[in-house]
Amino acid sequence: MSGYRELHDASISDPAEFWAQAAQAVTWSREPQQILDDTNPPFYRWFPDGELNTCVNALDRHVAAGRGEQAALIYDSPVTGTKRTYSYSELLDQTARFAGVLRGLGVGKGDRVVVYLPMIPEALITMLACARLGAVHSVVFGGFAPHELAIRIDDARPKVVVTASCGIEPSRTVEYKPMLDAAIERAEFPPEHCVVVQRDHLRCELIEGRDLDWHELMATAEAADPVPVAATDPLYVLYTSGTTGKPKGIVRDNGGHAVALLWTMRHLYDMEPGEVFWAASDVGWVVGHSYIVYAPLLLGATTVLYEGKPVGTPDPGAFWRVVSEHGVKVLFTAPTAIRAIRKEDPDGAYVGKYDISTLKYLFVAGERLDPDTYHWATEKLGIPVVDHWWQTETGWAIAANPMGVQQLPLKAGSPTVPMPGYDVRILHADGEDCKPGEEGAICIRLPLPPGTLPTLWGDDERYLRSYLSEHPGYYLTGDGGYIDEDGYLFVMGRIDDVINVAGHRLSTGSIEAVLATHPAVAECAVIGVADEIKGQVPRGLVVLKAGASGDGLPAMLVASVRDEIGAVASFKLVDVVPALPKTRSGKILRKTMRGIAAGKDEPIPSTIEDPSVLDALRPILRR
Ligand code: COA
Ligand code: AMP
Repeated sequence: MSGYRELHDASISDPAEFWAQAAQAVTWSREPQQILDDTNPPFYRWFPDGELNTCVNALDRHVAAGRGEQAALIYDSPVTGTKRTYSYSELLDQTARFAGVLRGLGVGKGDRVVVYLPMIPEALITMLACARLGAVHSVVFGGFAPHELAIRIDDARPKVVVTASCGIEPSRTVEYKPMLDAAIERAEFPPEHCVVVQRDHLRCELIEGRDLDWHELMATAEAADPVPVAATDPLYVLYTSGTTGKPKGIVRDNGGHAVALLWTMRHLYDMEPGEVFWAASDVGWVVGHSYIVYAPLLLGATTVLYEGKPVGTPDPGAFWRVVSEHGVKVLFTAPTAIRAIRKEDPDGAYVGKYDISTLKYLFVAGERLDPDTYHWATEKLGIPVVDHWWQTETGWAIAANPMGVQQLPLKAGSPTVPMPGYDVRILHADGEDCKPGEEGAICIRLPLPPGTLPTLWGDDERYLRSYLSEHPGYYLTGDGGYIDEDGYLFVMGRIDDVINVAGHRLSTGSIEAVLATHPAVAECAVIGVADEIKGQVPRGLVVLKAGASGDGLPAMLVASVRDEIGAVASFKLVDVVPALPKTRSGKILRKTMRGIAAGKDEPIPSTIEDPSVLDALRPILRR
């Protein structure tokens, strides 16, 4: 196999040839004759005349090839004390039957199904069943509150929502059903039906005529055959936080997704069929979509679905127990999880309690891997700790160290190098290339590789505006950073108002929208501030309306954000301040406040309206 450099060069000089070869690993019902349609820039389409079914690629073809008895899915749930293995045959049977259930409820090709489920096998089964029918799933993370769920329902307009009676967090039982009911009450486009997985831990009431019991439906369900779809047809929509309160519906197509994810399994993660891959994330996030559900199954590997936390379920040895019990080769998690483990087990004593000799790599993503955490994990585990950088939008890594191609020397603080398919550039505001070591906006020259977003759900215009208009011919990632003399990329953080809280992407704009609705609040700003475990947490600054009282206001605002956005926002810090610093045109200086809160020697913009406002705020921000 050629080395990284040759592979990357080939992918950029002749992308069609590069991805045509990768596409051979996919089973097509109609082989693509055209690889890249570039006739309508900046919109690009991969494999436009190809036809396939993603579920067939993830399940049927492995059963047909003799992997039927191999483990496809290992469900390990310390919060319920359950462990269960599904073979490829069993997972196919359950998926085909649930596809039959959905079809019976009127779900067909192109229809949407919203999935609001905890980390249980039914989540994967539902996603794969949608893929089988050519329907489009949209998974909403269980930590989001009714308001956020309602926004997503209204944008996706699903025929069916699939949910469960509850999720189980270590500290409490989360009742999903009342949250879904509240969301549907608010929604303008409610679903016709809800399918509910009743969990023994806590059952819920069903609304007659609308709600149906998963287990009852499955008892009499008939298997549905797979429906071939165009490679360019959508497989799913996953909403992610943008800079405003309205989330962006990231569209993933079928063909490019299958080709790219399959390619990453061998080349990036060094995985072979039959080996065990564990992404300790959540199906509600892109990492869960790509690396709990699709990629391991597309390869014929075994995936682990873990319903628990890195600590507290029951201790900081949980990850190492799972690795040793299930023979995990690759573990993928967020740096925040490693920081949480390290805090409770600084000497790594729990690592030594388990035989983790099967573990060859620890991959991390979701936020920057800080050098301290990198060094700790490397020392305690004695294996490569590979930071890789990507986004919901791309669906797979933009930059990484391709373990299956060539193990490049690791540099702390860097996710290593751009992956094949990604022509990464660092641009100044005027569009000029930055020199090595010079910080700028991280952009990717078009076309983006297969598997990345072709557009936003129902909103081509917003896709253009958000990502493609700042620097024509380039995709704007929203992150800032630099490339060093050796070609290593360093990602320094978002240059917009998106924050990353414990690996969860949130928009400060959506939190501001909640604060602004309180009758005592005249104006507000939310910024991300550093947190030892979670990386970042949101911090609110509010200005009172004339005559309004600030008594008890912070606690009320904290409760509102929890009710409207969800506990996952971890919004706990609010200060009432006399005024917010602004430019003369009235723009709030969030970046300046962020810098001051981070202890930086932040320059004061020349456009500031009243510098004394910032002076008054400085001691509060530094607290
Ligand atoms: N459903 C409902 N509530 C949820 C939830 C879910 N799926 N996930 C989290 N929450 C709740 C938690 O119970 C918590 O509520 P609380 O305020 O009542 O305690 C709140 O949301 C914040 O949760 P979390 O961010 O998970 O913080 P934590 O303090 O419970 O745990 C970590 C901290 C670091 C252990 C945890 O965030 C973690 O494992 N992070 C890894 C994230 C990850 O894998 N990201 C994917 C990118 S790869
Ligand atoms: P999400 O879409 O939730 O995956 O979040 C994507 C954002 O998380 C990126 O734009 C980055 O800001 C951040 N991110 C993800 N992975 C990394 C990483 N390895 N290093 C630095 N930032 C990261």
